[in-house]
Amino acid sequence: MSYISDKSVQQIYDTIKVEDVVGDFVHLKRRGINHIGLCPFHNEKTPSFNVSAVKGIFKCFGCGEGGDAVQFVMKIENLSYPEALRWLAKKYNIQLEEIAPSAEILEKQQAADSLYIVNAFAQEYFQSQLFETDYGKSIGLQYFKERGLREETIRRFGLGYSNGINSDLVQTSTGKGYKLEIMQSAGLASSAGKDFFRQRVMFPIHNISGKVLGFGGRTLSTDKKTPKYLNTPESEIYHKSKILYGISQAKKAILQENMCYMVEGYMDVITLSQAGIENVVASSGTSLTVGQIQLVKRFSPNLTILYDGDAAGIKAALRGLELVLEQDMNVKVLLIPDGEDPDSYLQKVGVTAFREFLQKEAVDFILFKTRLLLKDAKNDPMKRAELIKDLVESISHIPDTLKRSVYVKQCSDLMDIGEQILHNEINKRIASKLKKNLEVENKSDRQDSELPTPLEPGFDETSIFIPEKSRAHDFLEKDIARILIMFGNKELTQNETVAEYILINMSDIIDEFDSPIFAEVVEICIETLSAAKELKPEIFIQHKNPKISELAIDVISTPYEYSANWEKLNVFLNSQKMPDDNHVADAKSGILRFKLRKIERLMGKNQSEIKKVQDEGGNLEEIMKLLKVQQKLILMRGEIAKEQNTVVLK
Ligand code: CTP
Ligand code: MN
Repeated sequence: MSYISDKSVQQIYDTIKVEDVVGDFVHLKRRGINHIGLCPFHNEKTPSFNVSAVKGIFKCFGCGEGGDAVQFVMKIENLSYPEALRWLAKKYNIQLEEIAPSAEILEKQQAADSLYIVNAFAQEYFQSQLFETDYGKSIGLQYFKERGLREETIRRFGLGYSNGINSDLVQTSTGKGYKLEIMQSAGLASSAGKDFFRQRVMFPIHNISGKVLGFGGRTLSTDKKTPKYLNTPESEIYHKSKILYGISQAKKAILQENMCYMVEGYMDVITLSQAGIENVVASSGTSLTVGQIQLVKRFSPNLTILYDGDAAGIKAALRGLELVLEQDMNVKVLLIPDGEDPDSYLQKVGVTAFREFLQKEAVDFILFKTRLLLKDAKNDPMKRAELIKDLVESISHIPDTLKRSVYVKQCSDLMDIGEQILHNEINKRIASKLKKNLEVENKSDRQDSELPTPLEPGFDETSIFIPEKSRAHDFLEKDIARILIMFGNKELTQNETVAEYILINMSDIIDEFDSPIFAEVVEICIETLSAAKELKPEIFIQHKNPKISELAIDVISTPYEYSANWEKLNVFLNSQKMPDDNHVADAKSGILRFKLRKIERLMGKNQSEIKKVQDEGGNLEEIMKLLKVQQKLILMRGEIAKEQNTVVLK
């Protein structure tokens, strides 16, 4: 334990690229000068997570998380600041200059990290036992080799061997000054002070960033009374329900392939990975939990589950899968034949055949379930009815309407039952779920957030009608264009120009521009900034598109006045100063005005939608959904109004 020198810290900051670092965890797409992806810090379907390479920061417009690359690593890996720096140094191969710490700091750090420290020690210990002792080599290493593992694979997964007969891990570790209590808290020593793992081959279990959380130990004895696997008991850092075996080794491949295979056992992960199918993790023999699914979802929404075992076991496992559907994952299922598991089947048929098998046999979850259960039901009408109920229940857990209707169609074909009947059944279930959710949310909304107060008794915000096309949008868009053209390169804060501020803060609504000419101004800004050129008014004035140059000349040469229309439209005037002196507040309030107007328009659209559905006889599910949307919009509008006040007051 030691400090990292200031020089090294600076070197880390100089080297890291935020889009690289975030890209290790989030599937990012380019969008203008930014990257965008699904936020890893909250659950979302449409990306609102922005990464700005230019500014070196990330920001989620959904949940508000934001910061630089170091803060990102701290958050996502749950690391302290120095830990995050070390993590980054490792990633970028930066040699750190270390300074010795004080005794006090040393002790503190040891207390906080003690479980990780003893686990790391134990992992190295087990590994050296495997490779460097006679019994380790002849028993453990021999065993792994017989199971087809190469040495590089054994090292990549950090496998080891525990002898443990004379509690040699406890002896060695306490001899080196590690405390017995900590060994016990980590699950490495029993309450009697003996080694917990004895005569087992050891599988260290890592978190995403590769720290050892605990171990699985497999016995080599064939004695039926000995449990085949022993796992670390729940500890402060080992939470079975949040762990996926192999995630640290698999994460890159999951991102690259945009798909994750889920198997049951440690050996399944290792064998597949060795064969080049590296995007594989294991649930370690338990049914899947939400925590595990969310771990996968950070890297990809596509999951293929490889089952082995008997039909009864699989049916039970399928029941747990509703949970995955609710997370809006695309789930495929695949059955390993002949009583084999993925490991043994791959060894049996070879890599090429195995890959082909994965390609061909992976079947969509609902289809898989239907086929499996249909075998039992045959022509028994009662059983068929049960099966239909079962399927309807599963489908109703899928949040996406489009996906749902695809499944309904499929199910209708397979079960030979009308689509409408299925839809009705599913809608009933969804409506009752939504109603429950809404009741709960309404209660909590009123408690902890300020809904805009109605203007008069009985006034209903949801009934405000706002036309979709209004001149206001034109004004506001032109206003943004004006600010970009005139003040784009002015400094807003110490290291941020007006244009950067506007583009980053508008990345979520940039598609909302109605007028192509104003949208083009935004495009030009993005191009200029990406090319690291200065954003001068001349760029617009001398632009090859004559409309752009006209617009630029127009906004620059016209003495600036606030449009009288704005007042009518209830748009706030931020200051009496001329905008020239006031481009900071001007830029900020320009965006807020723009956003406010766009939200009001969405409210209007949504309002007409509600009316339409009601007129058509009212599908409860639809109406509930639209009402929820309306509530969200009202809340957003309230927040922007609040923000407007603070900008204006500054
Ligand atoms: N498991 C466990 N405790 C047990 C049995 C199993 O934790 N007593 C978990 C382990 O994570 C194991 C997985 O369930 O990897 C699957 O169990 P199983 O199929 O019995 O073992 P395999 O992984 O196939 O191991 P092997 O091939 O070595 O028999
Ligand atoms: Mn096996």
